[in-house]
Parts: sequence; structure tokens; C-alpha cells
Amino acid sequence: MKIIVNDIPIECTEGDLLMDVLLDNNIKIPHFCYHQDLGADGNCRMCMVEIKGQKRPQIACDTFVTENLEVSTISEQINEVKRSILELELLNHPVDCPICDQAGECKLQDYYMDFGLYDSHLSTPKTKKGKAIDLGCNVILDQERCVLCTRCIRFTSDITKTGELGIIGRGDNARVAVALGHELDNDYAMNVVELCPVGALTSKDFRFKQRVWFLDSTKSVCHGCSRGCNIQIDYNETKYSAEKVHRFRSRRNKQINQSFLCDYGRLSYTELNEEFIGGISHVEDLKELLKVDKKIALVSPSMSLQQLSAVKEFCRNNNIELFSLPYIDESFGDDWLKTNDMSANFAGVKELGINSSEEEFNASLENLHVVINFDHKYLKNKELKNKKVVHFTTSNIETNYELVFAIANFAHDSGTIINCDMIKQDFYTTKYKSVHPRLVELLEELK
Ligand code: SF4
Ligand code: SF4
Ligand code: FES
Repeated sequence: MKIIVNDIPIECTEGDLLMDVLLDNNIKIPHFCYHQDLGADGNCRMCMVEIKGQKRPQIACDTFVTENLEVSTISEQINEVKRSILELELLNHPVDCPICDQAGECKLQDYYMDFGLYDSHLSTPKTKKGKAIDLGCNVILDQERCVLCTRCIRFTSDITKTGELGIIGRGDNARVAVALGHELDNDYAMNVVELCPVGALTSKDFRFKQRVWFLDSTKSVCHGCSRGCNIQIDYNETKYSAEKVHRFRSRRNKQINQSFLCDYGRLSYTELNEEFIGGISHVEDLKELLKVDKKIALVSPSMSLQQLSAVKEFCRNNNIELFSLPYIDESFGDDWLKTNDMSANFAGVKELGINSSEEEFNASLENLHVVINFDHKYLKNKELKNKKVVHFTTSNIETNYELVFAIANFAHDSGTIINCDMIKQDFYTTKYKSVHPRLVELLEELK
């Protein structure tokens, strides 16, 4: 079936929510309280639309489409309604965008620029509320900037079911708060920062470090566990330093992580900024070492299918026994996103038929002289007496290995990984080139 939006026909299905149809078709529809993964609450009224045949404007987040429904999101009447709603939202708002960390990605700022009534009608002083309140879990609350959309509250009540947040007070004094003596405290808490459409909730980890308009962004997949949550990597390069990753944000994938990330995965971006310090070995020395006949290799189960295939081919050509062991942590997983398998692509290891038996690996290790470690954590604290160890690493390493080759991490590489539900996903490389080569290129050189 079809509906008509601003005189343009749009295909949809009977019973779809009008709001979803508009958002999925990239039609601009201002909104605060609706979120595709939290549902409707109907409290902000910003999503008003005009519907042919209806006397009064309706909210799109509570309207279901019917055949030939005619909708306007841009009429003068609708813009006037939005202007009035914004006036109400901004009555007690400090309008301090220049010093707000959300500036540049704030819905209130965007709508204010589009429909704002720039001269306030208010003649009494604005109601003051709490500023820079530390809620715990890296989340800072500024109550004066809040539009009371309740997204953060619904996240803790409906999604994590931890219920830390609520609204206290009434009228002008209504504000978001945690119960006295309590903190925001769950493994997914930082999602509220991303859910907040304005600068009321900001991340302690990110705030005041970068202006968002100086950041580039690349589509990627979190490598923190086998769920493979979809992310945006936000990064930049300054004149005097190499590329730096500043944050991971969630990228919506209905099938995998909706719009959410766990805090562990969200903060794992810091590993991508670890710089390799130290000497890098010569490829010729490795070629020499490969002439020894007793060799074993261990490859990280977080490597992409492309990297694993290249390692497998390299091992076959050089008569090296290849293994990959999973990163299991029984205390990490939960019944939502986090999995006990803390590698990004163990399903890929299985698909390529790489041996993952720890027992067999250790038995072989006893008898072999050269150990090649492709960025696997297992060997970090292991005694490797009388062995020559070659390490291909994405981060700095403390141990004094025989040969060390720094390689580009996943932000500087592209590839495919398979998640715990056997879904294949691609991740992409950021705009700036790594100072270290990609593993696949390095192995090409060794041919
Ligand atoms: S803090 Fe943000 S998400 Fe929470 S109610 Fe206020 S505006 Fe909405
Ligand atoms: S659940 Fe796993 S993949 Fe998702 S954000 Fe957390 S660590 Fe990353
Ligand atoms: S988004 Fe529809 S009422 Fe808030």
C-alpha cells in the first residue's frame, strides 16, 4: 500500500507506525521522546503532523498508516505548533550551546535553529536546577538542559530493568534523578548518553575532549566479544599527532544490537590508540628463521576471515602447524548482548577449519622450536624457554621476543567477521593510513 507525505507517494505496510515510515524514508520529523528501540511515549508532542481530514494535528509516533493517508510534515500550521512546543521546552533551558558538549549533535539545537522563537517571552527568572551531577558509570547529568523526554528512564526501566532513573518534582521543578544514595549502575549505563537527544546526559569519558564537527566517522563492528555489535568509530588526526580514536557510538542493527552497546565494548576504543614503541624486525630475518623445520603458530580468533585465510596459507606454505584458541571468560556474558566468548571471530576460525584444541596446541608446543604468534593473548604470560618467538602485534608488548612485527589494528583494516549467531559482517578502515602495514600485506612480502 502507499501513503502520501508532502505530496510524495511512499510505499509502506498497513499498520506500520507513521513515525517509523517517516524515519525509514529519511523524512525530517522532529522528535524527542520517540526512539525506534524504546518505542513511543507521546510526551514531547514534537512529532506533530497534519493529516488530511483531521481537524487537529496528530502525533506521528501514535498514528498507524492506512491506505492513501495524506500527511504533511512541513505546513505552516505544523511549523507554528513546533515553534510553540519549543518555546515551552526552552522556557527554563539555559541555551548555553557554545559551552555544551552536545553542540553539533543536539536535537534541541537543530530544531531551535529550524523553528525557534529566538526572543524569549519570559519575564520572570528561569528556574535553576542541578548542574554537572555525577550519576556514576561515566554519566554526567545537567538537569537544566533536560527536555523530560524520559528516554533514559525508559531505558533503565524497560531494557536493563535496573530502574535507577526517575523523575522527581512537578511542573517547572520536574527533573531526572537517581534515588538518594544510589547511582546509575549497570553494564549498559552509557547508552543513556547516546539516547539523550539533548546535552542533559554526557559522557565523562568524552566530554570536552573534542568538538564533534572535527571528527570523522567510519562504520565498523565492535571486537569486544562474539556478539559483533555495530559501531561507528569516531576519530580525527591533528597536525602534530597521528590518528586518534575518540569514541565508539552504536550503529543501529535491528537484528544484532538494536541501538545499544555494553559499556565494556563502548570503552574498548582505547586499545586502538595504543602505540607500538620499539624496534621492528626485518622480514629477511624471519625468512631465515622459517628455514627451521619445527614451527608452530597461534592466531588470534579476533582476526578477520581475510587475515585468518592469509595466515592459514602462509602456514601451509611454510610447513607450520596452525592453532587458534578462543578467549573465554565465564564471568563476562549475560542474557542480553555480552557473550562469554570475548573474541570477534571464533566462528570464522571454525569455518576455516583451524585447530582450536588447547591440549593439542600445548602438546605440539613442547616439541617445536619456533613459535609464531599472530596477536594472540594466550602466550603473553606463558614460559617459552628454549623457543624462538615471532610476534605479529597490534599493540605494544613488554616481552623481549626474537622478532617483532607491528601490524595495523582493526580500525586501520577492513574485513569480515562472523558473530555468535553466524551473521557475517563487514567492517571498514578509517580514513587515515596506519603507520604499520596490514597483516595480509606483510604476509604477501614473505612469499
Ligand atoms: S536526561 Fe535526556 S534522555 Fe533523560 S529525560 Fe532528560 S532529555 Fe530525556
Ligand atoms: S556486547 Fe560485545 S560486541 Fe557488543 S559492545 Fe559489548 S563487547 Fe562489544
Ligand atoms: S516523539 Fe511523538 S510525542 Fe514525542
